[in-house]
Amino acid sequence: MESHDRQDHWQSVYTKKSESEVSWFQENPAPSLAMIEQTGAAPGSAIIDIGGGASRLVDRLVERDFRNVTVLDLSRAALEVAKARLGDGAAQVQWLVADGTIWEPQDTYDIWHDRAAFHFLTDQADRAAYVARLGQAVRVGGHAIIATFALDGPERCSGLPVVRYDAASLGKTLGDRFELVNTRSDAHATPWGSEQSFQFSLFRRVGS
Ligand SMILES: C[S@@+](CC[C@H](N)C(=O)[O-])C[C@H]1O[C@@H](n2cnc3c(N)ncnc32)[C@H](O)[C@@H]1O
Repeated sequence: MESHDRQDHWQSVYTKKSESEVSWFQENPAPSLAMIEQTGAAPGSAIIDIGGGASRLVDRLVERDFRNVTVLDLSRAALEVAKARLGDGAAQVQWLVADGTIWEPQDTYDIWHDRAAFHFLTDQADRAAYVARLGQAVRVGGHAIIATFALDGPERCSGLPVVRYDAASLGKTLGDRFELVNTRSDAHATPWGSEQSFQFSLFRRVGS
């Protein structure tokens, strides 16, 4: 999928549907918070949420006094929803409208978090571009938390095909600069009560 088609798709989703009318809506991003805690994150840790959309993860991070949080998403509309919800708290977050396969990171991060964005990259070239940015943006000793549909999860989301992973196939895709620290399954309950099987994997950036 071309980047502009992707952007049109997601902009349209967030313009037409409210935050809680999408299958991925999560009131409490508990699995993500547990893995962020496992990294030993401190208030000054630089955290980026890739494809963060309108997720409430940023709210929980701001509440916990994380001072260096960035949310990147293709959709400006999604980020506007999160900003409006945060009110004054939005000013202490960096907001980036960008495609994670094209964006040129200007900073390095202690924690890269991605829930349900990477799995939309069905082209090898897009995955390679994403992984190159991941390797560039996460400092050695930093962490990547990548949540995708699991091997028994849905084959599509938001009308788009996805690639499903387990920790082993994800680790192979990320390459030898990322070492698996932990993985867990998560049965996500959609707002209409169905279940989606996710995997959350935590990797440490090693080598250089
Ligand atoms: C299924 S939603 C998940 C949103 C959020 N992470 C959450 O857990 O609620 C996927 C998100 O990834 C974003 N996205 C998809 N492809 C992207 C890309 N190449 N670069 C940046 N964002 C992307 C979409 O705009 C959308 O917000």
